[in-house]
Amino acid sequence: MSDPLGNALREDLRRHRELLAGRVPAFEALYRPLIARTDDVRFAAAWAHRSFSAFYDRPLLIFASLRERALRDPHHPLAALLADQPAADTAERVDDAGLEIAMEDAGFWDNLGARHVQTNETGRAVVWLWPASALGLRAYTLVDLGSSAGLNLVADRLEHPWRDEDDQPFFDEVSPPTRRVGLDLRPLDPHAEADRRWLRACVWPGEHARLQRLNDAFGAMESESTEQVALDLADAPAWLDEIAGPVLAYQSIVRDYLPERERKRYEAAMSRWASERAGRVWAELEYVEGGAPCGIVVHDVAGSRLWGTCSYHPTVVRRTEGAPCVGR
Ligand SMILES: C[S@@+](CC[C@H](N)C(=O)[O-])C[C@H]1O[C@@H](n2cnc3c(N)ncnc32)[C@H](O)[C@@H]1O
Repeated sequence: MSDPLGNALREDLRRHRELLAGRVPAFEALYRPLIARTDDVRFAAAWAHRSFSAFYDRPLLIFASLRERALRDPHHPLAALLADQPAADTAERVDDAGLEIAMEDAGFWDNLGARHVQTNETGRAVVWLWPASALGLRAYTLVDLGSSAGLNLVADRLEHPWRDEDDQPFFDEVSPPTRRVGLDLRPLDPHAEADRRWLRACVWPGEHARLQRLNDAFGAMESESTEQVALDLADAPAWLDEIAGPVLAYQSIVRDYLPERERKRYEAAMSRWASERAGRVWAELEYVEGGAPCGIVVHDVAGSRLWGTCSYHPTVVRRTEGAPCVGR
């Protein structure tokens, strides 16, 4: 008899493999043995109380769960493949037996049941550093909406890689905020090794620059005081209303996690919040139509404006004509 979850998971893995088209050799080596095991009843048990929307959700959770186990144990059967060790020919190193053993590890199934794929990409901090600099904000509260581990809150302490299309910097001095707060449905603890390892596991094998950014940010977190609050973004506008003084609230790659009705309500409330009073700024770095693929939109008492476009992991920002440019 056919198993509906097994069929769905098989199809998800097949589509994911097609999407990545061999770009991640470690994943490429695992699709086939995974597809052969999609009827394993432990998948259904781990996900009995969970639902997934996008076709890539389950494949990415499986890969991150395996990688987390491999990162914690150098003797893990998939350590060479998944734990960023140099491996010349990954496809030959992994076989059914390696995955078979990895799937006997209870920790793998615990990850599948409890963890969520959560990235935290400090390249996206341009969304707040640019407005903080260009608008000359001083003595403000900084709020990360959908903060993951809150690493973007300390990005003023990290290297600033961003350039415009002419390969020039487009903002300079950033006055440090007086308070740094992250709001997330499931905040990760940037000081806890288990959460740090999970964040590393969510970086794809071979993405060494991203891993380096992550580790740099963990370091910066040690010398800066930040707060992490568990909160649904639906409640963020009311939460922000309680904060006195200037506030810069920003978000990156979180909007599309909200169901459509909730998202519309949230966006309307945030626009109202930002336009109501001078000293409030809401900045977004989110997917936009037209292939950019992301836009940086800044809302304040003067209105809403697209300042620029960039990638999901930005170093280059294409400034919209007339967008603020300071420092040169
Ligand atoms: C793709 S991550 C992006 C994290 C961070 N903004 C960045 O760019 O690195 C999305 C984050 O949004 C959070 N999230 C999703 N839905 C949420 C909601 N309704 N309320 C608060 N946070 C949410 C997730 O827990 C996750 O940490």
